[in-house]
Amino acid sequence: MTERIQKFISDKARLLTAAGVERATGEIETILCHLLDCERLDIYLHGWEILTNDVKQRLDKIIERRLTREPLQYILGESWFYGRRFRVSPAVMVPTPETELLCETAIRYIQQHSIEHARVLDVGIGSGVISVTMALELPECRVVALDISEEAIEMARTNATELGAVDKIEFRQSDFFAAVKPNERYDLILSNPPYIANWEYGALPPEVKADPTISLLSGDDGLDAVRVILRDAPQFLAPSGRILFEIGYDQGDKVVKMTETDERFRSIVVMKDYNDWDRVVMLSCD
Ligand SMILES: C[S@@+](CC[C@H](N)C(=O)[O-])C[C@H]1O[C@@H](n2cnc3c(N)ncnc32)[C@H](O)[C@@H]1O
Repeated sequence: MTERIQKFISDKARLLTAAGVERATGEIETILCHLLDCERLDIYLHGWEILTNDVKQRLDKIIERRLTREPLQYILGESWFYGRRFRVSPAVMVPTPETELLCETAIRYIQQHSIEHARVLDVGIGSGVISVTMALELPECRVVALDISEEAIEMARTNATELGAVDKIEFRQSDFFAAVKPNERYDLILSNPPYIANWEYGALPPEVKADPTISLLSGDDGLDAVRVILRDAPQFLAPSGRILFEIGYDQGDKVVKMTETDERFRSIVVMKDYNDWDRVVMLSCD
């Protein structure tokens, strides 16, 4: 039984691999889990019994679309983040595992410093993964969630509602910090901003190019959004607060340089991701 399902999966995976899809076996397993509403282990334990003709036909349809390099998350309409299922559509960026590192670091900071009723600002919310994760992992916190895209706000609101976080999040359509009032202060200012340089766009894999360009591109060096964060975020930071944002794999030194001449910053740490690339910047102003 197990051999039969293994061969079925590897035959399908071969098709995707030939089209340039990485980790094709994992994707076939993900599709089957989605169609069968089960865990990976269930596929190998019971797969052949539950793999009906209807499921096989639906799998083939998904594979057909995936062969064009349409992102699997858009085809399935969902993406997993911090152990939770989020809805996604081509109107929002597909969340990436690297952003979990930003959330983990932010949560640890609040817990280690025993900050109660943490106030969190999320700049550029997309599907809402950062805002919703903060709202659910930090019981007493309040989140203000900003995005310039109305469609992103709608998607994030849907996710927050379905995951039970909507009462803790205030959504505002905003060009960066424009909708933040001068007297507001936050313990955490978080962002996964666009950080790809315009000239890099052509070489991106088709799956990444399927993300809205407003989620990806940030000027000639990819750092335009970071410049706005460095310029505007400090004025909204509470005492002992932290600014955390995601950066590109080689942007750490550049961001450190950008902060050196700004006397408002007291410390900067660049954290590496699981591939040992620059990924998260943490800044303090006191
Ligand atoms: C890289 S995506 C991150 C989405 C989400 N936070 C995540 O981690 O998956 C960047 C987000 O910033 C938003 N954005 C781009 N320019 C913006 C601006 N000027 N003001 C506010 N949000 C902006 C985009 O609409 C997009 O949702």
